[in-house]
Amino acid sequence: MTDWLERVYTAGNDTAKLAEVYDAWADEYDDSVGQVGYTNPAVVTALFARLMPDVAAPVLDAGCGTGLIGHMLGLVGYRDVTGIDLSSGMLKRAAARGCYRALSTAVLGEPLSFPDAAFAGVVASGVFTVGHAPASAFGEIARVMRPGGVFVVSITDPVYEAGGFKAAIDKLAAGGTWERAAESDSYLPLPGADDSHRHPGRVYAMRRR
Ligand SMILES: C[S@@+](CC[C@H](N)C(=O)[O-])C[C@H]1O[C@@H](n2cnc3c(N)ncnc32)[C@H](O)[C@@H]1O
Repeated sequence: MTDWLERVYTAGNDTAKLAEVYDAWADEYDDSVGQVGYTNPAVVTALFARLMPDVAAPVLDAGCGTGLIGHMLGLVGYRDVTGIDLSSGMLKRAAARGCYRALSTAVLGEPLSFPDAAFAGVVASGVFTVGHAPASAFGEIARVMRPGGVFVVSITDPVYEAGGFKAAIDKLAAGGTWERAAESDSYLPLPGADDSHRHPGRVYAMRRR
């Protein structure tokens, strides 16, 4: 697990290299994160379901990976979940779960192919972090959300301010694009990882205006 984390965190903002590492990790990913008690998908899913209980709502799982969130959303009744990810290997694993309406390759931080207001909800777990999806992607995420929709995202404490995520959330709130709707308590996304990867984090939720 530690080796894989080192590899994904040191891809150095090179999306092609990051996709290669996730492609290589895809078949082992669920076992790896399961062994260290990965909690992000459960917390993101729980907060999303609290704020968007309409199970018919179209949902975008941004950086869906192998589909851990799509699986959980499916278990509690959501039937219209679309997943995007930069790794075709991870998307292949997500497709095998059979819980996504559509899956496609996309890079968060670049323009998304979806029309304005396409989704009532966007979830992102373990994606907005060092060397992964940048805070600058929040504008595109807001664009594809309909008024009243919610964006639920996990962010660890070490990158929340340093990675520009807090500033980007606040800027879109100040401009009237969305408002902060809820925030989880602090928790450990990887409770069983070694000290260098056991950082606390929170899940943040914004409601589109
Ligand atoms: C730690 S995994 C999390 C996957 C899943 N959301 C979960 O919680 O298990 C991070 C995922 O984000 C994807 N990813 C990283 N940066 C991305 C970007 N800029 N655009 C799209 N996907 C990205 C990776 O390919 C990987 O599948």
